Amino acid sequence: MGSDVFRDADPLERILSVEIARVTEKAAVAAAMLRGRGDERAADQAAVDAMRVELDALPVDGVVVVGEGERDDAPSLYVGERLGRGGAAVDLALDPLEGTTICAKSLPNAITVVAVAARGSLLVVPDVYMEKIAIGPGYAEGVVGLDRSARDNISSLAAAKGVPVDRITACILDRPRHAKLIEEIRATGAAIRLIGDGDVAGVIHTTDPESTGIDIYMGIGGAPEGVLAAAALRCTGGQIQGRLQLNTGEKRNRADKLGLHDPEKIYDLSDMVSGDVIFAASGVTDGNLLEGVRFYANRVETHSLVMHSRTGTVRDMRTRHLGSSFFAR
Ligand code: FBP
Repeated sequence: MGSDVFRDADPLERILSVEIARVTEKAAVAAAMLRGRGDERAADQAAVDAMRVELDALPVDGVVVVGEGERDDAPSLYVGERLGRGGAAVDLALDPLEGTTICAKSLPNAITVVAVAARGSLLVVPDVYMEKIAIGPGYAEGVVGLDRSARDNISSLAAAKGVPVDRITACILDRPRHAKLIEEIRATGAAIRLIGDGDVAGVIHTTDPESTGIDIYMGIGGAPEGVLAAAALRCTGGQIQGRLQLNTGEKRNRADKLGLHDPEKIYDLSDMVSGDVIFAASGVTDGNLLEGVRFYANRVETHSLVMHSRTGTVRDMRTRHLGSSFFAR
């Protein structure tokens, strides 16, 4: 293991920055072809199949640590699957279609996501819920935290940003489980952007409040999505905390088997991503930061972000893929 696996192999990083974009682009195009068709499964499967082919072509020795599920449940891109044509030992974290329902309904902010990290540097979590709080870059460490009330977090963030509380917007998944949280935040005077799905995008949106209008992400979503979002924040700066929701013995056992023995532990960014990481996301449907795939008579256009934590590089890539060559491999 080494946190500077990409530094030791700088040419690899250079290749990966472009090659990783192909991974999310291909998945995005495959999913976008089924955008708005009301078929979540078909869109997800198309994205999985496209992403798997591209991941397997990367010049790495990769092992999936955040994937489509356990081996028994997911025939492809399952946790533990080895991918790549050989090279540096890396962890792969992925979500071929983040927001299957929003893609099926052609609503905003469906994306495809991949992170490639030094082997052993991503937290391996069970597929359970995680309570999360995240903010973008530019704030002192500890401005917000899961050990504080929603009211405290909102007023602390507003003070740090230098604005009244009613100028803060929190992004929250629209779920009955968040009724109390929503009530508490509304009572502060802050605004809430409720999203139907897609909390990886929700967290990433905190990194650019001027474009997205979102200052803070709060609430309970998937734990694997928490690690993926942490990978993005490791590149852009920002803070995230997560606490696994281990409310049954069976879930505690699953966590225990992964070495996560304290059910109350709050994981911060460096717990979730401890080493160098390259992160990519492509838009499937139009969103606040990424445009969705555009289909034209003789070409397809994609919009992606590719980021590298060690260098802090953020590439905003609009790519034109001509004719059938893009689909053939
Ligand atoms: P999918 O991409 O698998 O559809 O998940 C979307 C999502 O909204 C995630 O972004 C989020 O973490 C999770 O589902 C929330 O789970 P639930 O829908 O059970 O509240």
